[in-house]
Amino acid sequence: MKILGIESSCDETSASIIEWKNNKACVLSNIISSQVKLHAKWGGVVPNLASREHLKNIIPVLKMAFKKSGVKPSELKLVSVTNGPGLIPALLIGTNVAKTLSYFWEKPLVGIHHVEGHIAANFISDKISRISKSQLPISNKIKMAFPALCLVVSGGHTQLILMKDYLKYEIVGQTLDDAAGEAFDKVARILEIGYPGGPAIAAKAAELRIKNYELRKEDKKNSIIHDSKFMIHLPRPMLNKKNFDFSFSGLKTAVLYETKKHPELLKNKSYVIEMCCEFQQAVIDVLITKTLKAAQKYSPKTIMLAGGVAANQELRVQLKEAIQKNLPDVKYKIPPMEYTGDNAAMIAIAAAFRWSKMTKEQKKKALLGWKTIDTDANLKLK
Ligand code: KG4
Ligand code: ZN
Repeated sequence: MKILGIESSCDETSASIIEWKNNKACVLSNIISSQVKLHAKWGGVVPNLASREHLKNIIPVLKMAFKKSGVKPSELKLVSVTNGPGLIPALLIGTNVAKTLSYFWEKPLVGIHHVEGHIAANFISDKISRISKSQLPISNKIKMAFPALCLVVSGGHTQLILMKDYLKYEIVGQTLDDAAGEAFDKVARILEIGYPGGPAIAAKAAELRIKNYELRKEDKKNSIIHDSKFMIHLPRPMLNKKNFDFSFSGLKTAVLYETKKHPELLKNKSYVIEMCCEFQQAVIDVLITKTLKAAQKYSPKTIMLAGGVAANQELRVQLKEAIQKNLPDVKYKIPPMEYTGDNAAMIAIAAAFRWSKMTKEQKKKALLGWKTIDTDANLKLK
C-alpha cells in the first residue's frame, strides 16, 4: 500500500510517499522544505512566521513529493499527518491540508504523534542510501526485538520511552525543563555561533575532539579537557538522581555564567571551541548514563536513538561504545542521518504500523478522520 505523510509541527514542511509491503517500507519520496534560514536571525522558531512559511510551501512540497514518487493520488491507501505535539500555528497547516485531501479523495486519515514518527525513523534501514534495482531507496524487513528502550532527543523532547511492543509506549523518564536540542540552540546563541545550535556546536566541538577524544575516553570520571587552556568544567545535571529524568536548563545557565564572567573570551576561538566540546560532552554524559541506568532496570533487547539530536555524531558513537561495553547483548539502532530531523517519511512509516494494527471498524472510522482528528499542541503519546 502507498501512504502519503505530511509533517509541519515546527519549522520543516515535509511531504513523503512511501510504499509499505510485507512489513517493509520503501521511501518513494521525502521532500523537506526547511525554514532554518528564516528563523536564524531570531535564534529560534517564531510560530507565526513558521505558519506563514508552511502555508506558502505545503502545496509545492506536496506536488514535488507526488512528482518524484510517480504516484497518483488515486493509488494512495491512506493519508497521514503529524497532529501534535508542536506549534499550533504550524501544526494546523499540515493537519488542515491533510484533512482536506482526505475528505476530497475519500481516503482514510491517520493522525501521528510527532515522537512516534521519530521513533519510526529507526525502521528505515541504514542501508537506505543503497539504491535498489527499482532505483528506490529501500528498507530492510522491519523486525524489532522488544522490549526496546528509546532515547528521544530533539528540540522539543528529551524522553526515555520503553516500548514493550509496536505502538506500546511508556515514558520512563523525561526532561523537567529544556529539551536537549533546545539547550544546544540556547547555548549556541549565548556563544554567538549561529542557529540551529546543535550542528553549530557539534562542528566546533569536533575541532577539539579530533585532538583529544582518546584522552577523554581514558578519563570519563570527570571529563575535564586535559589539553585545554581554559579547563572549563560544566555540571552533569541529575546524574546521581535515582530516576531517569533529565534537566538541561541549569547546564545552559552554567554556560551563561561562565561567559558572563569573561565576555571578552567569546571572541577567543579556542575558548568557544572548548566550551562547545565541554557542553556537548556534558549533555552526552547525562544522556548515556541515564539510558544505561534505565536499561539496567528494564532489560531492553534493543536501544534506539531518535529525534533531531540523534544527528550528533559524538552521541551516536559514544552511545554505541557504551552499549557494546556494558550491554553487549543489546541491539543498538539509530536512524539514518537524513531521517534524524523532522521529515514526513517517518510519519508515513508510523502510520503504516498503526494501520496494520487497526481493526476493520477502526479503519472504517479513519475515513472520517478529517472530522474527528484533533490538532493538539500537547498531544500525549499513547
Ligand atoms: O527533531 P527535530 O528536527 O525538531 C524537533 O522535533 O524539535 O530536532 C531539532 C533539534 C534542534 O534543537 C537542533 O539544534 C538539534 O535537533 N540538532 C542537533 C544536531 N542536529 C540537529 N543537536 C546536536 N547535534 C547535532 N548534530
Ligand atoms: Zn522532531
